[in-house]
Amino acid sequence: MRLERGTAIGVVGAGAMGSGIAQVAATRGHPVVVIDASGDVLARAASDVQRAIARDVEKGRLDGPAGAAAVARLRWHDMSGPSGLGVLADCGLVIEAIVETLDVKRDLFARVEGVVSGDCVLATNTSSLAVAAIAAGCQRPERVLGVHFFNPAPVMPLVEIIPWLGTTADVTAQTRALVNGWGKTTVLATDTPGFIVNRIARPFYGEGLRVHDEGVADPATIDWAMREIGGFRMGPFELMDLIGHDVNFAVTRSVFEAFFYDPRFKPSITQQRLVDAGLFGRKTGRGFYDYRDGASRPQPTTDPELGGQIVERILVMLINEAIDAVLWRVASPADIDLAVTKGVNYPKGLLAWGDEMGLDRVLARLTALQDDYGEDRYRPSALLKRMVREGRRFT
Ligand code: NAI
Repeated sequence: MRLERGTAIGVVGAGAMGSGIAQVAATRGHPVVVIDASGDVLARAASDVQRAIARDVEKGRLDGPAGAAAVARLRWHDMSGPSGLGVLADCGLVIEAIVETLDVKRDLFARVEGVVSGDCVLATNTSSLAVAAIAAGCQRPERVLGVHFFNPAPVMPLVEIIPWLGTTADVTAQTRALVNGWGKTTVLATDTPGFIVNRIARPFYGEGLRVHDEGVADPATIDWAMREIGGFRMGPFELMDLIGHDVNFAVTRSVFEAFFYDPRFKPSITQQRLVDAGLFGRKTGRGFYDYRDGASRPQPTTDPELGGQIVERILVMLINEAIDAVLWRVASPADIDLAVTKGVNYPKGLLAWGDEMGLDRVLARLTALQDDYGEDRYRPSALLKRMVREGRRFT
């Protein structure tokens, strides 16, 4: 089957991600069938997507007839109804965005395979499971791959395309071309923990927490430094409060475990305690900051020298992670820099940033941290050392 503009798309799971993905596909001209195990979720998703499309029309991002056509292309089905999964029969691509549990995803894929054609492509939006493990439960695992959108899917341009070892090159190429046609920026990642973004971005949170835990600076000061000196849109603490500590801690923990407890990815006890206490951030009214009525925001210490040191420490850890991802062939250098600018809005690609800072300086700072702490967490990537030795740069 060729994946093209009119291909019917199935989306399983009408939560935050599934509804956003369905909106993208329908807006780009595909008939879309969305199914979920919950009728309530479906009803809410249908009205949310309709409202989002209406807003796009209002803002002039979409013309009126195109908006109406997109809404008309969407069908919403409760999978516990009489047709069950049968409504997916004509789909050329099914994207799964259900609960992040391996057994549940495997069970779903097995049932989907029972109704779709032999060459329908099956994609998972998983952020932390191995695509290989999901594919292994399928009759035709060669048509399975990861297609990882970012939240909110209609807004965030990045999509990571993740073939596992057995995905055919044709499935990968066709899926990538299709998603590119949806106006997304796709990057190709290997089936390794956290793929590109969720691996490389870990030190943004982890090293920020470490700087805080050691009493170098408080959250308000670290956030100020990362925004005003580093040029990031948000600092790590305000961002973790926004994502939710329950979610952010779970991702950190899963990446740490998936890397066989590599100390580079070690979670923070401070964050664990916030989770223990139910202080998940904005959604519960308190995290590192207090969002309840009448609460005041603490003022940062605006010391440029301290701020510069904080930014440099977090940044060299991020750059080291990006370089290590090149060493381990997680993705190409170009895709790694695209991924962090389009997936987490970093002001620059980390490899380009490393070149700009000077890779020798990045190495010197990491070596100083490693000497100081004696921890494997700060070990410079072998590729960084090699590049400095050979006087090479990424750009
Ligand atoms: P969600 O909880 O908002 O939505 C999941 C939906 O799946 C719910 O509506 C639920 O009723 C439905 N569901 C659960 N089990 C089902 C089953 N067996 N059959 C059919 N429907 C079922 O979750 P969210 O955030 O949309 O995440 C979905 C997937 O996307 C997960 O794999 C998650 O790891 C991944 N993801 C999430 C991101 C995020 O920022 N929320 C970002 C990128 C990926």
